[in-house]
Amino acid sequence: MHFFTKVPLAPPDPILGLTVAFQQDVRAHKVNLGVGLYKTEELKTPVLESVKAAEAALLRVEMSKEYLPIEGEKQYLEQMGALIFGREVWGRERERVASFQTVGGTGALKIGGTFLKEEAEHPIWLSTPTWPNHRGVFSHCGLKVEFYPYYDSVHHRVDFDSMMACLQTLHAGTIVLLHASCHNPTGCDLSLEQWRVLSELFRTNHLIPFFDFAYQGFGVGLEEDAEPIRLFAKEGLEMLVAVSNAKNFSLYAERVGSLFIAAESTQSAQRIVSRVKQMIRTNYSNPPMHGAHVASHILSTPPLRKQWEGELMQMRERINAMRALLVQRLGAAAFGHLGDGRGMFGFLGLNKSQVERLTAEYGIYMPSDGRINVCGLNRQNIDPVAEAILNV
Ligand code: LMR
Repeated sequence: MHFFTKVPLAPPDPILGLTVAFQQDVRAHKVNLGVGLYKTEELKTPVLESVKAAEAALLRVEMSKEYLPIEGEKQYLEQMGALIFGREVWGRERERVASFQTVGGTGALKIGGTFLKEEAEHPIWLSTPTWPNHRGVFSHCGLKVEFYPYYDSVHHRVDFDSMMACLQTLHAGTIVLLHASCHNPTGCDLSLEQWRVLSELFRTNHLIPFFDFAYQGFGVGLEEDAEPIRLFAKEGLEMLVAVSNAKNFSLYAERVGSLFIAAESTQSAQRIVSRVKQMIRTNYSNPPMHGAHVASHILSTPPLRKQWEGELMQMRERINAMRALLVQRLGAAAFGHLGDGRGMFGFLGLNKSQVERLTAEYGIYMPSDGRINVCGLNRQNIDPVAEAILNV
C-alpha cells in the first residue's frame, strides 16, 4: 500500500525556479536577470567586507549557540527598530511596538499574516502587480487576498488616482499591503506627497497598513527609503512592518528579518507579543542566531556601520549606473521609465511570449511578466542584452 502516489506535481517557483533553469543552461553567454540578488560588475554576490569583519569579531567572542528567545535577539531588534523608524520616532514609540526577529522577510510576512488571520476579520489587499509570493504567503495564512490597482503599464508609473479610488471603498479594519520602497516588481514608488495623502486616508478610514520593507537603502538612501513608514508611525497609526536584511546586508542565506507590529498602547503591544510568541513557537520555535548577530554587531559598532553604509551606497550606485546605461542602449523614448525606477527591479513592458523568446533564443532569463533585475547586467553583457530586447 502506498500513501503518496496522488501527490500532485507543483509548478516551479516563478522566481527561484529561474535560478535552477539558468544553472542548467550550458550557453556561455547566458544572462540571469531573474532572482532579486545584488551582483557586482563581475556578476558575483560576495560577502560584504563589513560582514566579514563582524563575523571575525563574533568568532572570537561567541561562546555559545544556545537558543535565542522566541521573539529573537533583543539588541538586533533595538538596532533595527531605530534603523527603520528613525531614532527619534523609535525612542518615542517603541513601547507600543511589538518586535520579533523572523526567518527572513518572508518569515516576517508569514508571521504577520498568521497574526492578522487570528486577530483581524478582513481580507488583505495587494498591489497589482506585486511580488508573486505575496499571494501564496497570505493565502497560506488563510487570509482572503484581493488586489488594488497600482501600476499604469501604458505610462509606466503609479496610477495613484485608481489606487486611491479603490482604497477609499474599503471597510475599516481592512489590511493593505504597501511596498515601502523599491516596489517589487515595477520599481515605481509613490512620491512623499502621495504617501502623505495615503496616510491621511488610512487614518480617517481606519485601514491597517502592512509595509513590506525588503530593500532599505537600495532606493534613495537608508533614511529616505524609510520615510513612508516613519510618516505613518508619526501619525500614531497601528501597523505592521515586515523587514528583510537579505539585500541590504547581502545576508541572503542567513535568513535575517524582523516583524514590527505597532499597537495603540503599551498594554496592547505586550498582549501582541504574547500571542505572536505562541505563533512563532508552534512554527519554527525561535529564530536563527548568526545573521542577526552579524547585522546587530555592524549596526552597533560605529566604524563597521560606516563601512557597511559605504558598501550599501556602492551597491545602490551600481544599480543606478546599470539603469542609466540600459536606458541609453534601449532608447529613452520607449524605455526612459527604467531610468526613473528605484531598486533592482523594473518592467521591460514585454509579454510572456517575448520573454520566452529572450530565454530560448538568447539565454536571457527573467520572470514571465518581463521584470528585470538590473544587477544581472554589466558593461560586457549590456550591448547584447539590449540588442536582444530590441529584437523581440
Ligand atoms: C525577488 O523578488 O526576486 C526576491 O525577493 C527573491 C525572492 O525570494 O523571490
